[in-house]
Amino acid sequence: PKYEIALIGLSVMGQNLALNIAENHSIAVYNRTESKTKEFMEKKVKTENIKASYDLKDLLSSLTKPRKIMLMIKAGEPVDLVIESLLPYLENDDIIIDGGNSHFKDTNRRTKKLAEKGIRYLGVGISGGEYGALHGPSIMPGGNKEAYQEVEAILKDAAAKTEKGACVSYLGPDSAGHYVKMIHNGIEYGIMEITAEIYDYMRKVMALEPSQMSEIFAEWNQDFQSYLVEITAKILKKEDPQNGEKLINLILDKAKHKGTGKWSVQNALDLGVAVPTINAGVNARLLSALKTERVENSKEFHSPDRAKVENELIIPKLKSALYFASVIAYAEGFKLLQSASKEYNYQLNYQEIARIWEDGCIIRSAILEAIQKSFADNNNLNTLIKAEFFKDRLKAAGADLEEIFTTAALSELPLTALHAASDYFNSLKSENLPANLIQAQRDFFGAHTYQRRDKEGVFHTEWEA
Ligand code: 6PG
Repeated sequence: PKYEIALIGLSVMGQNLALNIAENHSIAVYNRTESKTKEFMEKKVKTENIKASYDLKDLLSSLTKPRKIMLMIKAGEPVDLVIESLLPYLENDDIIIDGGNSHFKDTNRRTKKLAEKGIRYLGVGISGGEYGALHGPSIMPGGNKEAYQEVEAILKDAAAKTEKGACVSYLGPDSAGHYVKMIHNGIEYGIMEITAEIYDYMRKVMALEPSQMSEIFAEWNQDFQSYLVEITAKILKKEDPQNGEKLINLILDKAKHKGTGKWSVQNALDLGVAVPTINAGVNARLLSALKTERVENSKEFHSPDRAKVENELIIPKLKSALYFASVIAYAEGFKLLQSASKEYNYQLNYQEIARIWEDGCIIRSAILEAIQKSFADNNNLNTLIKAEFFKDRLKAAGADLEEIFTTAALSELPLTALHAASDYFNSLKSENLPANLIQAQRDFFGAHTYQRRDKEGVFHTEWEA
């Protein structure tokens, strides 16, 4: 028999996605290292729907036409190498689906190059980690629309489902799917840092134990329905099997990253869009990496005191801060999507993006349902802070944040993302910012000119005359 789709790359994500797809469709799998394929077939595969291939020619000849080949391999050069090795066997109209975290500019380049050869390309963001890949991820496809329609049924069957449908939707041409996935990850970095800062406050200002924090996060999550808050609660109560100590206390505080957060910020700067909370998520990881330096510096500079806080009173304020900053992280992300949609002609549908993020993905939370409704009411909403649903909630958080900031200051606690979110909101609601002084300084040293409040035109002053 011929198989409906091929999957190349049997890392855990690839394996789980193959098993997921095989529940409804036939699939042929290939991995460069043969032993991995054999092991997968022996240990994990219990269905006739999956066939192993040990060379690419065989893989492609076992597929129905036009062939659909999904790549689940490490972003970057490996993707180009695999495409190169597939080329001799590809025919007109075949479809390549890149399911990795590829940089959107690479996806544009590959789309164009392959289109010249008659090969159709889909750049597809897939979120949900190992569990999502197996049980239903959020899938963000972009690229050739006809090609999407030909794989839609397979993607829909594999995706997470809500009562609104499968968490997959055609997002736009070229790299639209990978772009949206990149921003998903940028928001992910922001919310991860926000939860980490709240944990830091709980241990350093409130002197709570991980198990106590776990209970608080779990309790909050009855409202938040946030995957990242849910796993935080689970992490904080996990014990090290060897010595029974809380595992979180044994994990080295140096965060790694593979690029998607950094790319979000790099591209935001290219498009002239401020994403300070997302940026804080990236910067905090960079600073965390300087462990040796931090340990040395702490001896010289760090002399924290501890504010006296009433735990019962401060806990609801922390909850409010977590909510506030998370909304801001989403708001920054969506604002960036809006600029990118114009710049790259993606024609993004924000309501649909929020909908497919409501389940399956890492940043799923109840907030997304409200975001989905806000864009359903008005697809041109220029910032989520003005959405009816969020307005009053954001306003109310102001005073709560203030108390957290002042008490944290005594402990010399860096709350990079919480401050960034608060300042983003404060900036966007300031009638007057001090940019008049910036303009004067620019004109002073560089004759860069300025505009005035009281009359039209462009002005320059001889400042020292
Ligand atoms: C997802 C995740 C996933 C991956 C990230 C994290 O949506 O399922 O975002 O794609 O875990 O790439 O990457 P970092 O290593 O950069 O934190």
